[in-house]
Amino acid sequence: MSRLFCEWQPTTLDEIVGQPCIARLKRFVANPRNDALLLYGKSGTGKTTAAEAIATALGTEGFPSTVYRLNGTEFCLELAERYFDPASSPFRFKSGQYWHVLLVEELEFLSQQTINYLKNHIEVTIKNTDRKVIVIATSNDISLFRKEGKRAFLDRWKQYEFTADIAFASACMNRLAQVCTCEGIPPPDYTTAFDDEGTFSMRRALDIIEDARLEVAS
Ligand SMILES: Nc1ncnc2c1ncn2[C@@H]1O[C@H](COP(=O)(O)OP(=O)(O)OP(=O)(O)O)[C@@H](O)[C@H]1O
Ligand SMILES: [Mg+2]
Repeated sequence: MSRLFCEWQPTTLDEIVGQPCIARLKRFVANPRNDALLLYGKSGTGKTTAAEAIATALGTEGFPSTVYRLNGTEFCLELAERYFDPASSPFRFKSGQYWHVLLVEELEFLSQQTINYLKNHIEVTIKNTDRKVIVIATSNDISLFRKEGKRAFLDRWKQYEFTADIAFASACMNRLAQVCTCEGIPPPDYTTAFDDEGTFSMRRALDIIEDARLEVAS
């Protein structure tokens, strides 16, 4: 049995529920430009899903692919130079109708060296180039960047907040009801989809349904 969160993974921005920032992201996809987007917020709210949907809409994973994936923990200075140095950058190639889309997960784990390097290169290699390049980063916690010395780095990104409040939870309920109907199980108790701060995670809610599905199957 495959995992429920994969089976119900939205592949377009239209399928992502309960996030007011999706309207802005849809406007961006309709009228893309060289830019750096930062999708931030609590876990299980749709950040990676939205980033992947934008990459699908604007890039190609054919051969050669114009979608590149990195994690903040591995995005060391050497790798940053490989991506942004004009001699080695995959962005130096013309990409026709497609966009080069670099996805960086967990931006909060970047080293100070990489932050310093990117601060300059977001302006030069991404925003001010004749190649079509978009960087999309995700983060659970951007408070670290609000501290002294990192503000300027944060200011280089267009920011999109993903919410995890009660409005998000209630917007998810229709989709969750649809999942339960398709799986043929009664609606479960979603209490544990909220953490102790009261934030709701769609990933946790899908895991609750998955547990119920296993119980029914056993
Ligand atoms: N807003 C949403 N609308 C529809 N499905 C969602 C939404 N948010 C999350 N999901 C579902 O939950 C799963 C996890 O979402 P996703 O990986 O996008 O979360 P995330 O915000 O990137 O979390 P993390 O911060 O832990 O990486 C997705 O595979 C998708 O099935
Ligand atoms: Mg994610």
